Amino acid sequence: MPKPGGGDEGAGPRHVAIIMDGNGRWAKARRLPRVAGHRAGAEAVRRTVRAACEMGLEALTLYAFSSENWRRPATEIADLMGLLRRFVASELEEIARNDVRLKIVGDWRKLEPDIVAMLDDAIARTASNRALTLAIALNYGARDEMLRVTRRLMREARAGEIDPDALDEAVVEARLDTAELPPLDLLIRTSGEVRLSNFLLWQAAYSELVFTDTLWPDFDAAALSAACDVFAGRERRYGGL
Ligand code: IPE
Ligand code: IPE
Ligand code: MG
Repeated sequence: MPKPGGGDEGAGPRHVAIIMDGNGRWAKARRLPRVAGHRAGAEAVRRTVRAACEMGLEALTLYAFSSENWRRPATEIADLMGLLRRFVASELEEIARNDVRLKIVGDWRKLEPDIVAMLDDAIARTASNRALTLAIALNYGARDEMLRVTRRLMREARAGEIDPDALDEAVVEARLDTAELPPLDLLIRTSGEVRLSNFLLWQAAYSELVFTDTLWPDFDAAALSAACDVFAGRERRYGGL
């Protein structure tokens, strides 16, 4: 069985995903409201996207809002959605100029209509860009993604479009939100928490995991490069020898 792309020992990752955690604790440490942490987190996103472009990554997937984050107070959700609007409005020019293609993963069409329209426009405007693919996970949950894939497959089977006996990994992969992205090489989580919190459970099956105590608002090019160095030193075996 061929190795799933990229990450020969010593080589850098093609696709990096980040669980951007710790905004609240960053703010708390400074006696600031949580929204100040999210604002500083948006700056870290800007820096990290720039760094990913400079490093020549093919894909960067950022966990921005999970399907479970709806459990937070309405005021915090409104702050996060406000920051998302501002981020897209202020960054689209630079993203487009840097040949970055924007993609959204998750059940994002359930966000507020003006955000969906804004994202649709940003996706269309960057669709032919060929450097970095920036995938932002919004209303994303890996279990929800698997449910959406399963529902679709069952509908296709019922319509006679797919034979259940022909189902294989490639058929599922092609229906995941991440379908056109390279295999996930490296998954980083900031803030010292050591869990996946429902992020990319299928895609991370053979990813290298790096957990750092750095809080997301403090993350920068050096932190990304350090995680990529750790990755380059790992030996990936995929169950073989
Ligand atoms: C990550 O920071 C941002 C989102 C989950 C949207 P948190 O808001 O989870 O920060 P902590 O974990 O409370 O420090
Ligand atoms: C994961 O962080 C989600 C995002 C970074 C968007 P959380 O802060 O929501 O995760 P838990 O609740 O600590 O597992
Ligand atoms: Mg958190």
